[in-house]
Amino acid sequence: MRIIVTGGFGDLGSRVAREASLRGHDAMPVSRRTGLDLTTGAGLVAVLRGADVVVNCADDPRRGAAVMVDGSRRLAEAANAAEAPVHLVHISIVGIDDFPMSYYRRKLAAERALAASGAAVTVLRATQFHSLAAFFARTLTRGGLTFQVGRMAFQPVDTDWVAAQLLDVAEAPRPTGYERADDIAGPEVLTVAQLAAAVRRHGGQRPGRVLPLAAPFGALRAFGKRQNIPAAGQARTGGRTFADWLAQQPRELEGR
Ligand SMILES: NC(=O)c1ccc[n+]([C@@H]2O[C@H](COP(=O)([O-])OP(=O)(O)OC[C@H]3O[C@@H](n4cnc5c(N)ncnc54)[C@H](OP(=O)(O)O)[C@@H]3O)[C@@H](O)[C@H]2O)c1
Repeated sequence: MRIIVTGGFGDLGSRVAREASLRGHDAMPVSRRTGLDLTTGAGLVAVLRGADVVVNCADDPRRGAAVMVDGSRRLAEAANAAEAPVHLVHISIVGIDDFPMSYYRRKLAAERALAASGAAVTVLRATQFHSLAAFFARTLTRGGLTFQVGRMAFQPVDTDWVAAQLLDVAEAPRPTGYERADDIAGPEVLTVAQLAAAVRRHGGQRPGRVLPLAAPFGALRAFGKRQNIPAAGQARTGGRTFADWLAQQPRELEGR
């Protein structure tokens, strides 16, 4: 299959492109650095020519809705208008339906734009990646003190496994319209305190003291209520555990 990966040089997209090549597909990662700009549509028609599937991993949270919402819509419309039918596979996030955070609202708006486009689309929702859960744990730890906001926890997932699941969707028959694949999540739920303790041990430090905090409002409240975690039995689980992922990271974690 000819598989185009938008955002194909990013964290997730590069793994999708690599996995597609390993499976013997003709994989093409694309982004602004190859001349595709989803905020303008530049390069879109050329990129989709001859494609069977496009896996959309493009993202730029600093540009508001320009890439995630308008860019996804533009991509779906171009896929729909392509000479030969193209299956658009799009990555989204578990639990975004009623989540008061602007990024998650844009993810939901992107899904709605794709559903309205009339294109053959499959949306796969995943939980937060291990790297992002580790970032949250580090951010909520200050001066040896870990702030456990409400019941805040993650069911973090291995990005390589997410990439493989996207490829499985890409290889499945093209749907006739919009559909959602089963949500996916990592193998275990870990509180912020558990994640932070693991990250500190990994860096050679003793776990910090845990300070419980009420989750006041907004996004923290939603995380505190675990809206980011699928209800029991509502997601397919798999991939490396957080501990196994962590063991393969450098001692000093960086980024998200
Ligand atoms: N991190 C998580 O925990 C998590 C969980 C579930 C789902 N996801 C989803 O996974 C997706 C990928 O995230 P990521 O962390 O892999 O992103 P990333 O590393 O920031 O990569 C984003 C990619 O998008 C490209 N891009 C940015 N602006 C563009 C534009 N205007 N036109 C075309 N391409 C553009 C970038 O390349 P250039 O700069 O070269 O254009 C880059 O290749 C996102 O949709 C995110 O919501 C993430």
